[in-house]
Amino acid sequence: MSEQNHLSAGDRVPDAVFKTRHNDDWLDISTAEIFAGKTVVVFALPGAFTPTCSSTHLPGYMALAGQLKAAGVDEIYCLSVNDSFVMNAWAKDQRVEDEVLMIPDGNGAFSKGMGLLVDKRDLGFGLRSWRYSMLVRDGVIEKIFVEDFATPGDPFEVSDAATMLNAINSAKAQSA
Ligand code: BEZ
Repeated sequence: MSEQNHLSAGDRVPDAVFKTRHNDDWLDISTAEIFAGKTVVVFALPGAFTPTCSSTHLPGYMALAGQLKAAGVDEIYCLSVNDSFVMNAWAKDQRVEDEVLMIPDGNGAFSKGMGLLVDKRDLGFGLRSWRYSMLVRDGVIEKIFVEDFATPGDPFEVSDAATMLNAINSAKAQSA
């Protein structure tokens, strides 16, 4: 895969409804609920329990969550094309509390609307999210860091928590 058209800064995030499980009940959460009126960081990855996602991507955001929130981020969302049972089990395994909230994009509708749903059938994964991060203010993408489509495999160079924190703090310093 060499390139892919996807949403970019200035675009509004797509509408979607996420099916989540809370205390043995289903709870629908809409994009309006998670984005409206908030400054949000989303990081999206190819799969719960996969090696880089578990060893580095998610733990990096957990470790820097306090600094991201101190920099003005209201919520941090981890999105994957997995169902809510899997996302909840992964959160438990990783000892995530409420510093990062898990978003199960099980049908891939949000990822498809972002233009970042990719074919991972070669790995038996079906369709999954490409790895990226974005800062979203009131539903509009302000910054987005999308891993390079030309790099083979599962690149992880720009969607990490430190890159996002540096970008937010640099923008704040420039506007001060
Ligand atoms: C990883 O996070 O390391 C990974 C993700 C998708 C496929 C294979 C590995």
